[in-house]
Amino acid sequence: MSRVLVIGCGGVAQVAIQKCCQNSAVFKELCIASRTKSKCDDLKNKLEGKTSTIVTTAQVDADNVEEVKALINSYKPDVVLNVALPYQDLTIMDACLACGVHYVDTANYEPEDTDDPEWRKIYEKRCKDLGFSAYFDYSWQWAYDQKFKDAGLTALLGTGFDPGVTSVFSAYALKHYFDEIHTIDILDCNGGDHGYPFATNFNPEVNLREVSAPGSYWEDGHWIEVPAMSIKREYDFPQVGKKDMYLLHHEEIEALAKNIPGVKRIRFFMTFGQSYLTHMKCLENVGMLSTTPINFNGHEIVPIQFLKALLPDPASLGPRTVGKTNIGCIFTGIKDGKEKTICIYNVCDHQECYKELGSQAISYTTGVPAMIGTALVANGIWNKRGTLTTDEFDPDPYMEMLTEFGLPWIVDENPATVE
Ligand SMILES: NC(=O)c1ccc[n+]([C@@H]2O[C@H](COP(=O)([O-])OP(=O)(O)OC[C@H]3O[C@@H](n4cnc5c(N)ncnc54)[C@H](OP(=O)(O)O)[C@@H]3O)[C@@H](O)[C@H]2O)c1
Repeated sequence: MSRVLVIGCGGVAQVAIQKCCQNSAVFKELCIASRTKSKCDDLKNKLEGKTSTIVTTAQVDADNVEEVKALINSYKPDVVLNVALPYQDLTIMDACLACGVHYVDTANYEPEDTDDPEWRKIYEKRCKDLGFSAYFDYSWQWAYDQKFKDAGLTALLGTGFDPGVTSVFSAYALKHYFDEIHTIDILDCNGGDHGYPFATNFNPEVNLREVSAPGSYWEDGHWIEVPAMSIKREYDFPQVGKKDMYLLHHEEIEALAKNIPGVKRIRFFMTFGQSYLTHMKCLENVGMLSTTPINFNGHEIVPIQFLKALLPDPASLGPRTVGKTNIGCIFTGIKDGKEKTICIYNVCDHQECYKELGSQAISYTTGVPAMIGTALVANGIWNKRGTLTTDEFDPDPYMEMLTEFGLPWIVDENPATVE
Protein backbone atom coordinates (compact mmCIF):
# COMPACT_ATOMS: atom_id res chain seq x y z
CA MET A 1 0.00 0.00 0.00
CA SER A 2 1.70 3.14 -1.16
CA ARG A 3 1.60 6.86 -1.27
CA VAL A 4 2.56 8.24 -4.68
CA LEU A 5 3.19 11.76 -5.94
CA VAL A 6 2.45 12.24 -9.65
CA ILE A 7 3.99 15.32 -11.29
CA GLY A 8 2.27 16.53 -14.49
CA CYS A 9 -1.38 16.44 -15.46
CA GLY A 10 -1.35 16.30 -19.28
CA GLY A 11 -2.49 13.60 -21.71
CA VAL A 12 -0.28 10.78 -20.39
CA ALA A 13 -0.69 11.72 -16.72
CA GLN A 14 -4.50 11.68 -16.96
CA VAL A 15 -4.39 8.02 -18.05
CA ALA A 16 -1.66 7.02 -15.57
CA ILE A 17 -3.57 8.60 -12.68
CA GLN A 18 -6.91 7.02 -13.61
CA LYS A 19 -5.15 3.64 -13.92
CA CYS A 20 -3.52 4.11 -10.47
CA CYS A 21 -7.01 4.73 -9.14
CA GLN A 22 -8.21 1.44 -10.69
CA ASN A 23 -5.39 -0.22 -8.71
CA SER A 24 -6.19 1.06 -5.21
CA ALA A 25 -4.72 -2.11 -3.67
CA VAL A 26 -1.28 -0.64 -4.49
CA PHE A 27 -2.07 3.08 -4.77
CA LYS A 28 -3.62 3.87 -1.41
CA GLU A 29 -2.97 7.62 -1.58
CA LEU A 30 -2.06 9.76 -4.55
CA CYS A 31 -1.23 13.46 -4.92
CA ILE A 32 -1.57 15.03 -8.39
CA ALA A 33 0.76 18.02 -8.69
CA SER A 34 1.40 20.15 -11.75
CA ARG A 35 2.15 23.64 -12.96
CA THR A 36 -1.55 24.35 -13.58
CA LYS A 37 -3.37 23.17 -10.45
CA SER A 38 -6.86 23.58 -11.96
CA LYS A 39 -6.15 20.61 -14.29
CA CYS A 40 -5.29 18.48 -11.23
CA ASP A 41 -8.49 19.59 -9.45
CA ASP A 42 -10.60 18.80 -12.55
CA LEU A 43 -9.19 15.27 -12.68
CA LYS A 44 -9.67 14.80 -8.92
CA ASN A 45 -13.35 15.81 -9.36
CA LYS A 46 -13.72 13.36 -12.28
CA LEU A 47 -12.40 10.55 -10.02
CA GLU A 48 -14.71 11.42 -7.09
CA GLY A 49 -16.73 8.37 -6.01
CA LYS A 50 -15.03 6.08 -8.57
CA THR A 51 -12.01 4.97 -6.53
CA SER A 52 -10.96 4.14 -2.99
CA THR A 53 -7.54 5.78 -3.61
CA ILE A 54 -7.36 9.00 -1.58
CA VAL A 55 -6.58 11.77 -4.09
CA THR A 56 -5.22 15.22 -3.24
CA THR A 57 -3.78 17.95 -5.48
CA ALA A 58 -0.98 20.52 -5.35
CA GLN A 59 0.70 23.19 -7.44
CA VAL A 60 4.39 22.76 -8.27
CA ASP A 61 6.95 24.17 -10.67
CA ALA A 62 9.06 21.08 -11.31
CA ASP A 63 11.85 23.15 -12.87
CA ASN A 64 12.56 24.30 -9.32
CA VAL A 65 14.28 21.62 -7.19
CA GLU A 66 13.50 23.42 -3.93
CA GLU A 67 9.76 23.51 -4.73
CA VAL A 68 9.72 19.80 -5.56
CA LYS A 69 11.67 19.01 -2.37
CA ALA A 70 9.23 21.04 -0.27
CA LEU A 71 6.27 19.20 -1.82
CA ILE A 72 7.91 15.78 -1.28
CA ASN A 73 8.77 16.66 2.32
CA SER A 74 5.22 17.73 3.06
CA TYR A 75 3.42 14.87 1.23
CA LYS A 76 6.01 12.17 2.06
CA PRO A 77 5.40 9.82 -0.90
CA ASP A 78 7.13 6.45 -1.35
CA VAL A 79 7.56 7.07 -5.10
CA VAL A 80 7.41 10.09 -7.42
CA LEU A 81 6.04 9.46 -10.94
CA ASN A 82 7.26 12.14 -13.34
CA VAL A 83 4.81 12.50 -16.22
CA ALA A 84 5.59 16.17 -16.80
CA LEU A 85 8.14 16.79 -19.56
CA PRO A 86 11.66 15.39 -20.16
CA TYR A 87 12.98 18.90 -19.31
CA GLN A 88 12.11 18.24 -15.63
CA ASP A 89 13.77 14.79 -15.29
CA LEU A 90 16.94 15.98 -13.58
CA THR A 91 15.34 18.48 -11.19
CA ILE A 92 12.83 15.84 -10.04
CA MET A 93 15.61 13.21 -9.71
CA ASP A 94 17.64 15.69 -7.59
CA ALA A 95 14.63 16.26 -5.34
CA CYS A 96 13.95 12.51 -4.99
CA LEU A 97 17.58 11.88 -4.03
CA ALA A 98 17.58 14.71 -1.49
CA CYS A 99 14.35 13.41 0.09
CA GLY A 100 15.06 9.66 -0.13
CA VAL A 101 12.18 8.57 -2.42
CA HIS A 102 12.07 6.38 -5.52
CA TYR A 103 11.76 8.00 -8.99
CA VAL A 104 9.89 6.85 -12.14
CA ASP A 105 9.54 8.51 -15.57
CA THR A 106 8.54 7.81 -19.19
CA ALA A 107 11.08 9.72 -21.30
CA ASN A 108 14.78 10.47 -21.03
CA TYR A 109 16.22 13.86 -20.26
CA GLU A 110 16.55 16.61 -22.81
CA PRO A 111 17.07 20.29 -22.08
CA GLU A 112 14.42 22.87 -22.88
CA ASP A 113 17.10 25.32 -24.01
CA THR A 114 19.30 23.55 -26.56
CA ASP A 115 21.37 26.74 -26.96
CA ASP A 116 22.63 26.56 -23.36
CA PRO A 117 26.43 26.63 -23.89
CA GLU A 118 27.17 24.33 -20.90
CA TRP A 119 24.78 21.67 -22.20
CA ARG A 120 25.89 22.16 -25.82
CA LYS A 121 29.54 21.49 -24.99
CA ILE A 122 28.66 18.08 -23.52
CA TYR A 123 26.12 17.39 -26.32
CA GLU A 124 28.62 18.09 -29.09
CA LYS A 125 31.22 15.81 -27.49
CA ARG A 126 28.56 13.08 -27.16
CA CYS A 127 27.57 13.46 -30.85
CA LYS A 128 31.20 12.94 -31.80
CA ASP A 129 31.90 10.09 -29.33
CA LEU A 130 28.69 8.09 -29.83
CA GLY A 131 27.67 9.07 -33.36
CA PHE A 132 24.04 10.14 -32.98
CA SER A 133 22.81 13.71 -32.74
CA ALA A 134 19.33 13.55 -31.15
CA TYR A 135 18.93 16.02 -28.28
CA PHE A 136 17.91 13.27 -25.84
CA ASP A 137 20.10 10.48 -24.49
CA TYR A 138 20.54 8.45 -21.30
CA SER A 139 23.96 9.79 -20.26
CA TRP A 140 22.50 12.55 -18.07
CA GLN A 141 20.35 10.16 -16.05
CA TRP A 142 22.77 7.21 -16.02
CA ALA A 143 25.23 9.62 -14.37
CA TYR A 144 22.94 9.41 -11.27
CA ASP A 145 23.34 5.61 -11.00
CA GLN A 146 25.82 5.49 -8.11
CA LYS A 147 23.99 8.21 -6.19
CA PHE A 148 20.71 6.25 -6.36
CA LYS A 149 22.52 3.02 -5.41
CA ASP A 150 24.23 4.71 -2.44
CA ALA A 151 20.88 6.09 -1.29
CA GLY A 152 19.22 2.64 -1.62
CA LEU A 153 16.79 4.06 -4.18
CA THR A 154 15.39 3.03 -7.57
CA ALA A 155 15.12 5.39 -10.53
CA LEU A 156 13.04 3.52 -13.13
CA LEU A 157 13.67 5.28 -16.45
CA GLY A 158 11.30 5.22 -19.42
CA THR A 159 8.25 3.18 -18.45
CA GLY A 160 5.90 4.26 -21.26
CA PHE A 161 5.18 2.09 -24.30
CA ASP A 162 8.25 2.95 -26.34
CA PRO A 163 10.46 3.19 -24.40
CA GLY A 164 9.04 0.99 -21.68
CA VAL A 165 6.91 -1.90 -22.89
CA THR A 166 9.14 -2.47 -25.95
CA SER A 167 12.07 -3.08 -23.57
CA VAL A 168 9.95 -5.38 -21.38
CA PHE A 169 8.99 -7.30 -24.56
CA SER A 170 12.74 -7.64 -25.26
CA ALA A 171 13.50 -8.98 -21.78
CA TYR A 172 10.51 -11.35 -22.08
CA ALA A 173 11.64 -12.63 -25.49
CA LEU A 174 15.13 -13.28 -24.11
CA LYS A 175 13.78 -15.02 -21.00
CA HIS A 176 11.21 -17.27 -22.70
CA TYR A 177 11.96 -17.57 -26.45
CA PHE A 178 15.67 -17.19 -27.21
CA ASP A 179 19.14 -18.26 -26.12
CA GLU A 180 20.53 -15.31 -28.11
CA ILE A 181 18.76 -12.34 -29.70
CA HIS A 182 20.50 -11.07 -32.83
CA THR A 183 18.19 -8.34 -34.17
CA ILE A 184 15.36 -6.24 -32.79
CA ASP A 185 13.05 -4.15 -34.99
CA ILE A 186 10.71 -1.98 -32.94
CA LEU A 187 7.64 -0.98 -34.99
CA ASP A 188 5.35 1.80 -33.78
CA CYS A 189 2.22 2.12 -35.90
CA ASN A 190 -0.54 4.61 -35.24
CA GLY A 191 -3.36 3.77 -37.63
CA GLY A 192 -5.59 6.38 -35.96
CA ASP A 193 -7.22 9.34 -37.69
CA HIS A 194 -8.18 12.49 -35.74
CA GLY A 195 -9.51 14.39 -38.75
CA TYR A 196 -7.20 17.41 -38.33
CA PRO A 197 -4.79 18.29 -41.18
CA PHE A 198 -1.95 18.29 -38.60
CA ALA A 199 -1.74 17.45 -34.90
CA THR A 200 0.65 15.50 -32.68
CA ASN A 201 -0.39 12.63 -30.40
CA PHE A 202 1.62 13.76 -27.42
CA ASN A 203 3.29 16.99 -26.35
CA PRO A 204 3.90 18.74 -29.74
CA GLU A 205 7.21 20.31 -28.78
CA VAL A 206 8.77 17.06 -27.53
CA ASN A 207 7.18 15.04 -30.37
CA LEU A 208 8.35 17.31 -33.19
CA ARG A 209 11.87 17.52 -31.78
CA GLU A 210 11.96 13.71 -31.76
CA VAL A 211 10.66 13.03 -35.26
CA SER A 212 12.59 15.83 -37.00
CA ALA A 213 15.96 14.57 -35.64
CA PRO A 214 18.24 12.49 -37.89
CA GLY A 215 17.45 8.76 -37.79
CA SER A 216 19.92 6.29 -36.35
CA TYR A 217 20.26 2.61 -35.57
CA TRP A 218 22.65 0.32 -33.74
CA GLU A 219 24.68 -2.17 -35.77
CA ASP A 220 27.73 -4.27 -34.87
CA GLY A 221 28.57 -2.25 -31.78
CA HIS A 222 28.11 1.28 -33.07
CA TRP A 223 25.54 3.87 -34.18
CA ILE A 224 24.79 4.58 -37.84
CA GLU A 225 23.12 7.95 -38.40
CA VAL A 226 21.07 8.77 -41.51
CA PRO A 227 19.14 11.91 -42.57
CA ALA A 228 15.65 12.26 -41.02
CA MET A 229 12.99 10.10 -42.77
CA SER A 230 15.52 8.76 -45.31
CA ILE A 231 14.86 5.05 -44.59
CA LYS A 232 11.31 4.06 -45.47
CA ARG A 233 9.65 0.63 -45.41
CA GLU A 234 6.09 -0.63 -45.87
CA TYR A 235 4.69 -3.10 -43.33
CA ASP A 236 1.36 -4.88 -43.10
CA PHE A 237 0.36 -4.43 -39.46
CA PRO A 238 -2.08 -7.00 -38.01
CA GLN A 239 -5.51 -5.37 -37.36
CA VAL A 240 -4.36 -2.07 -38.95
CA GLY A 241 -3.17 -2.85 -42.50
CA LYS A 242 -0.34 -1.64 -44.73
CA LYS A 243 1.45 1.53 -43.62
CA ASP A 244 4.61 3.41 -44.57
CA MET A 245 7.08 3.61 -41.72
CA TYR A 246 10.33 5.50 -41.30
CA LEU A 247 13.49 4.80 -39.32
CA LEU A 248 13.93 7.12 -36.30
CA HIS A 249 16.45 7.46 -33.52
CA HIS A 250 14.75 6.23 -30.35
CA GLU A 251 15.88 6.12 -26.75
CA GLU A 252 15.33 2.43 -25.92
CA ILE A 253 17.89 1.45 -28.58
CA GLU A 254 20.61 2.89 -26.32
CA ALA A 255 19.54 0.82 -23.31
CA LEU A 256 18.84 -2.38 -25.28
CA ALA A 257 22.28 -2.20 -26.96
CA LYS A 258 23.78 -2.18 -23.44
CA ASN A 259 21.51 -4.79 -21.86
CA ILE A 260 20.75 -7.46 -24.50
CA PRO A 261 23.95 -9.51 -24.71
CA GLY A 262 25.23 -10.17 -28.22
CA VAL A 263 22.57 -8.12 -30.04
CA LYS A 264 23.83 -7.23 -33.51
CA ARG A 265 21.27 -4.73 -34.81
CA ILE A 266 18.45 -2.63 -33.29
CA ARG A 267 16.21 -0.38 -35.37
CA PHE A 268 13.11 1.68 -34.61
CA PHE A 269 10.40 2.51 -37.19
CA MET A 270 7.35 4.75 -36.81
CA THR A 271 4.47 5.14 -39.26
CA PHE A 272 3.64 8.58 -40.67
CA GLY A 273 1.09 9.61 -43.25
CA GLN A 274 2.14 11.80 -46.18
CA SER A 275 0.14 14.79 -44.87
CA TYR A 276 1.97 14.71 -41.51
CA LEU A 277 5.36 14.59 -43.25
CA THR A 278 4.50 17.40 -45.67
CA HIS A 279 3.30 19.67 -42.83
CA MET A 280 6.35 18.86 -40.74
CA LYS A 281 8.80 19.55 -43.59
CA CYS A 282 7.09 22.85 -44.37
CA LEU A 283 7.12 23.94 -40.71
CA GLU A 284 10.78 22.95 -40.46
CA ASN A 285 11.68 24.81 -43.67
CA VAL A 286 10.14 28.06 -42.44
CA GLY A 287 11.83 27.78 -39.03
CA MET A 288 8.78 26.92 -36.93
CA LEU A 289 10.49 23.88 -35.33
CA SER A 290 13.38 25.99 -34.05
CA THR A 291 14.11 25.99 -30.32
CA THR A 292 16.13 29.22 -30.57
CA PRO A 293 14.25 32.31 -29.30
CA ILE A 294 13.53 35.15 -31.77
CA ASN A 295 12.40 38.70 -31.12
CA PHE A 296 8.88 39.41 -32.42
CA ASN A 297 7.40 42.90 -31.90
CA GLY A 298 9.45 43.38 -28.75
CA HIS A 299 8.62 39.91 -27.31
CA GLU A 300 10.98 36.99 -27.18
CA ILE A 301 9.29 33.85 -28.54
CA VAL A 302 10.52 30.33 -29.16
CA PRO A 303 9.09 29.25 -32.55
CA ILE A 304 8.33 25.63 -31.54
CA GLN A 305 6.59 26.83 -28.35
CA PHE A 306 4.48 29.26 -30.39
CA LEU A 307 3.58 26.40 -32.74
CA LYS A 308 2.55 24.28 -29.72
CA ALA A 309 0.11 27.02 -28.73
CA LEU A 310 -1.49 26.84 -32.21
CA LEU A 311 -1.78 23.05 -32.47
CA PRO A 312 -4.61 20.99 -30.92
CA ASP A 313 -3.93 19.85 -27.35
CA PRO A 314 -3.16 16.10 -27.66
CA ALA A 315 -5.41 15.49 -24.64
CA SER A 316 -8.34 16.87 -26.72
CA LEU A 317 -7.94 14.35 -29.58
CA GLY A 318 -9.74 11.53 -27.73
CA PRO A 319 -13.32 12.06 -28.91
CA ARG A 320 -12.37 12.44 -32.59
CA THR A 321 -9.66 9.79 -33.06
CA VAL A 322 -10.72 6.51 -34.67
CA GLY A 323 -8.62 3.47 -35.61
CA LYS A 324 -5.99 1.41 -33.85
CA THR A 325 -2.36 1.44 -32.81
CA ASN A 326 -0.10 -1.59 -33.21
CA ILE A 327 3.22 -1.33 -31.38
CA GLY A 328 5.65 -4.18 -30.94
CA CYS A 329 9.02 -5.77 -31.60
CA ILE A 330 10.24 -8.34 -34.11
CA PHE A 331 13.09 -10.44 -32.72
CA THR A 332 15.42 -12.79 -34.58
CA GLY A 333 17.96 -15.05 -32.92
CA ILE A 334 18.77 -18.59 -31.86
CA LYS A 335 16.91 -21.10 -29.65
CA ASP A 336 18.32 -24.60 -29.06
CA GLY A 337 20.71 -24.15 -31.98
CA LYS A 338 17.96 -23.18 -34.45
CA GLU A 339 17.15 -19.79 -36.02
CA LYS A 340 13.93 -18.27 -34.73
CA THR A 341 11.81 -15.16 -35.38
CA ILE A 342 8.94 -13.88 -33.25
CA CYS A 343 6.95 -10.68 -32.91
CA ILE A 344 5.39 -9.48 -29.66
CA TYR A 345 2.87 -6.67 -30.08
CA ASN A 346 -0.16 -4.91 -28.67
CA VAL A 347 -3.11 -3.53 -30.59
CA CYS A 348 -5.04 -0.69 -28.97
CA ASP A 349 -8.26 0.92 -30.22
CA HIS A 350 -8.52 4.73 -29.91
CA GLN A 351 -12.28 4.75 -29.36
CA GLU A 352 -12.14 1.95 -26.75
CA CYS A 353 -9.60 4.04 -24.81
CA TYR A 354 -11.83 7.07 -25.11
CA LYS A 355 -14.85 5.15 -23.84
CA GLU A 356 -12.91 3.83 -20.85
CA LEU A 357 -10.92 6.90 -19.77
CA GLY A 358 -11.65 9.81 -22.12
CA SER A 359 -8.22 9.59 -23.81
CA GLN A 360 -6.82 8.58 -27.19
CA ALA A 361 -4.64 5.46 -27.54
CA ILE A 362 -1.23 7.21 -27.52
CA SER A 363 -1.85 8.66 -24.06
CA TYR A 364 -3.42 5.33 -23.03
CA THR A 365 -0.54 3.14 -24.24
CA THR A 366 1.91 5.41 -22.37
CA GLY A 367 -0.13 6.01 -19.19
CA VAL A 368 -0.90 2.34 -18.46
CA PRO A 369 2.81 1.30 -18.45
CA ALA A 370 3.65 4.39 -16.37
CA MET A 371 1.23 3.11 -13.72
CA ILE A 372 2.59 -0.46 -13.98
CA GLY A 373 6.24 0.58 -13.55
CA THR A 374 5.30 2.78 -10.59
CA ALA A 375 3.28 -0.03 -8.98
CA LEU A 376 6.15 -2.53 -9.32
CA VAL A 377 8.61 -0.10 -7.72
CA ALA A 378 6.10 0.94 -5.04
CA ASN A 379 5.27 -2.62 -3.96
CA GLY A 380 8.92 -3.71 -4.05
CA ILE A 381 8.50 -6.38 -6.76
CA TRP A 382 11.04 -4.46 -8.85
CA ASN A 383 13.60 -3.61 -6.18
CA LYS A 384 17.01 -3.20 -7.85
CA ARG A 385 18.75 0.04 -6.91
CA GLY A 386 20.31 2.66 -9.18
CA THR A 387 19.08 4.14 -12.49
CA LEU A 388 17.53 1.29 -14.44
CA THR A 389 15.49 0.77 -17.59
CA THR A 390 12.59 -1.69 -17.87
CA ASP A 391 14.72 -4.32 -19.65
CA GLU A 392 16.79 -4.76 -16.47
CA PHE A 393 14.03 -6.38 -14.38
CA ASP A 394 11.99 -9.60 -14.45
CA PRO A 395 9.48 -8.96 -17.27
CA ASP A 396 6.85 -11.48 -16.10
CA PRO A 397 4.97 -9.40 -13.49
CA TYR A 398 4.93 -6.41 -15.89
CA MET A 399 3.57 -8.56 -18.76
CA GLU A 400 0.80 -9.89 -16.49
CA MET A 401 -0.20 -6.37 -15.48
CA LEU A 402 -0.29 -5.23 -19.12
CA THR A 403 -3.04 -7.77 -19.78
CA GLU A 404 -4.84 -6.98 -16.52
CA PHE A 405 -4.86 -3.21 -17.07
CA GLY A 406 -5.90 -2.93 -20.70
CA LEU A 407 -2.89 -3.63 -22.95
CA PRO A 408 -3.03 -7.37 -23.77
CA TRP A 409 -0.23 -8.60 -26.01
CA ILE A 410 0.17 -11.24 -28.68
CA VAL A 411 3.17 -13.44 -29.52
CA ASP A 412 3.32 -14.24 -33.26
CA GLU A 413 5.80 -17.03 -33.94
CA ASN A 414 5.66 -16.57 -37.71
CA PRO A 415 5.71 -12.81 -38.35
CA ALA A 416 6.61 -10.91 -41.52
CA THR A 417 10.06 -9.35 -41.13
CA VAL A 418 11.43 -5.95 -42.24
CA GLU A 419 14.08 -5.95 -44.94
N1 LIG B 1 7.58 6.43 -23.47
C1 LIG B 1 6.55 6.70 -24.23
O1 LIG B 1 5.99 5.82 -24.89
C2 LIG B 1 5.98 8.10 -24.32
C3 LIG B 1 5.00 8.39 -25.27
C4 LIG B 1 4.40 9.66 -25.26
C5 LIG B 1 4.83 10.61 -24.32
N2 LIG B 1 5.81 10.30 -23.42
C6 LIG B 1 6.27 11.30 -22.43
O2 LIG B 1 5.20 11.54 -21.52
C7 LIG B 1 5.40 12.82 -20.90
C8 LIG B 1 4.07 13.57 -20.88
O3 LIG B 1 3.60 13.77 -22.20
P1 LIG B 1 2.17 14.44 -22.45
O4 LIG B 1 1.83 14.23 -23.86
O5 LIG B 1 1.24 14.04 -21.38
O6 LIG B 1 2.54 15.99 -22.26
P2 LIG B 1 1.52 17.21 -21.97
O7 LIG B 1 0.13 16.82 -22.35
O8 LIG B 1 2.15 18.41 -22.56
O9 LIG B 1 1.57 17.30 -20.39
C9 LIG B 1 2.69 17.73 -19.67
C10 LIG B 1 2.25 18.09 -18.27
O10 LIG B 1 3.40 18.49 -17.53
C11 LIG B 1 3.13 19.73 -16.91
N3 LIG B 1 4.35 20.51 -16.78
C12 LIG B 1 5.13 21.02 -17.76
N4 LIG B 1 6.14 21.72 -17.24
C13 LIG B 1 5.99 21.65 -15.90
C14 LIG B 1 6.72 22.17 -14.81
N5 LIG B 1 7.82 22.94 -14.98
N6 LIG B 1 6.29 21.92 -13.57
C15 LIG B 1 5.18 21.16 -13.35
N7 LIG B 1 4.45 20.64 -14.33
C16 LIG B 1 4.86 20.88 -15.60
C17 LIG B 1 2.16 20.41 -17.84
O11 LIG B 1 1.52 21.44 -17.13
P3 LIG B 1 0.61 22.58 -17.87
O12 LIG B 1 -0.73 21.96 -17.88
O13 LIG B 1 0.73 23.77 -17.03
O14 LIG B 1 1.19 22.76 -19.26
C18 LIG B 1 1.27 19.24 -18.23
O15 LIG B 1 0.32 18.97 -17.21
C19 LIG B 1 6.49 13.50 -21.73
O16 LIG B 1 7.71 13.40 -21.03
C20 LIG B 1 6.58 12.67 -22.99
O17 LIG B 1 7.85 12.70 -23.58
C21 LIG B 1 6.38 9.06 -23.40
